Amino acid sequence: MAEQRRMRENGGLSQMLRDHLTEWSERTGIAVEVWALPEREVPPKVADNVYATVREALDNVERHSGARVVSIALTVGRSGLRLTVSDEGRGFEAGTTGRGLVAMRAYFAEIGGRLTVNPVPGAGTTVSGFVPAEELTR
Ligand SMILES: Nc1ncnc2c1ncn2[C@@H]1O[C@H](COP(=O)(O)OP(=O)(O)OP(=O)(O)O)[C@@H](O)[C@H]1O
Ligand SMILES: [Mg+2]
Repeated sequence: MAEQRRMRENGGLSQMLRDHLTEWSERTGIAVEVWALPEREVPPKVADNVYATVREALDNVERHSGARVVSIALTVGRSGLRLTVSDEGRGFEAGTTGRGLVAMRAYFAEIGGRLTVNPVPGAGTTVSGFVPAEELTR
């Protein structure tokens, strides 16, 4: 609840993400390319879980990837919400798991969505999440 109030007071999900990305990029020295952030608001629970997912994805980029650049796209369109966080770091072997990867999938499952993590060893990692439009009107 506190997080949801903070979210509203701080201008919604896109503004919260912009603030976090700026702070994170300054601290880590990793450049962030923001391809898209939505104008439309989403339900508070969706906003919370998407925000938590981006934080974990960036935490992994910082701690494990060795990447110098990460790109992020979040769109809310007719079909639903789409999130992509993609780095060009070292990737990892399929089958690797951990609390963060499990948590990101759970954040999307909780809001009626799906999330996959696609690592390519030596090339990078892409986290992709989708929430169907009907889950955004509840
Ligand atoms: N973006 C990434 N680039 C390279 N390796 C990654 C990336 N994301 C995850 N990994 C690998 O997958 C493992 C599991 O990630 P996960 O987030 O589940 O755990 P963690 O970050 O090690 O610990 P935590 O529970 O604090 O998140 C990591 O230890 C790392 O080896
Ligand atoms: Mg992690």
